[in-house]
Amino acid sequence: MLAERVVGPELLDELPVQDPRALRSRRDLRRGNTWLRHPRIMARTLQEGFSIHRPLEITELGAGDGHFLWRVACRLRRQWPAAEATLVDRLDALDPLMRNRFSLLGWRIQAEVADATEWLRRAPPKANGVILCNLFLHQLRAEQLAELFCLAARSARVVIALEPRRVWWTYVYSHLLWMNGSGPITRHDGPISIRAGFAGRELSALWPDDGGWQLVERPASLFTHLFMARRKD
Ligand SMILES: C[S@@+](CC[C@H](N)C(=O)[O-])C[C@H]1O[C@@H](n2cnc3c(N)ncnc32)[C@H](O)[C@@H]1O
Repeated sequence: MLAERVVGPELLDELPVQDPRALRSRRDLRRGNTWLRHPRIMARTLQEGFSIHRPLEITELGAGDGHFLWRVACRLRRQWPAAEATLVDRLDALDPLMRNRFSLLGWRIQAEVADATEWLRRAPPKANGVILCNLFLHQLRAEQLAELFCLAARSARVVIALEPRRVWWTYVYSHLLWMNGSGPITRHDGPISIRAGFAGRELSALWPDDGGWQLVERPASLFTHLFMARRKD
């Protein structure tokens, strides 16, 4: 059943941003990111994949309320005390508290309400660009991923994604989300996310590799699939 990826609609994408059920689901996501240790895994992968001597220009695609990137920033502030971050999301979901929290870290942020692919299409290439995705790529079908990767390869030096692992035990767990207090939207979207998650080298196969990129794709934990594309030069 999990051999093939199946991308399905998630309720969080359809609810108005201020709907109490959507707000609760974003809170569930924050707790889920903690439990999955995604801020820590992302910060460590970035430190491994990107020279600390380069100024950091981060874009997060599908950034949601901004809490995830802020927690990554907290872990990176020593190496990159004055980074620039762009948070792109189709919905205007940025938590207003985040602007102040990022600025206390010395990070300048810009929020863009846009479809990620459309935004990349008009974004100027950044010499030191880093693109991060957390629990976002699984919402795209293969042809959409291939297009997004082509555009990302034009505008960044490093692309890192943390996504659901499509294996039986994550699928089983996704049906038990009520046990950790998750609300109805998260309980509905959880199994859909797992069926749309990744296995093997499915993301690498969609990367427009011209020989100039080093690709890493592997499990990062029992629950998380990690992909990183890094320019060789
Ligand atoms: C599961 S949430 C993850 C949010 C955030 N990365 C986090 O970890 O909390 C996925 C996010 O992707 C956004 N999204 C879905 N499709 C998108 C698209 N085509 N372009 C930009 N954002 C999109 C949704 O609005 C949602 O905020």
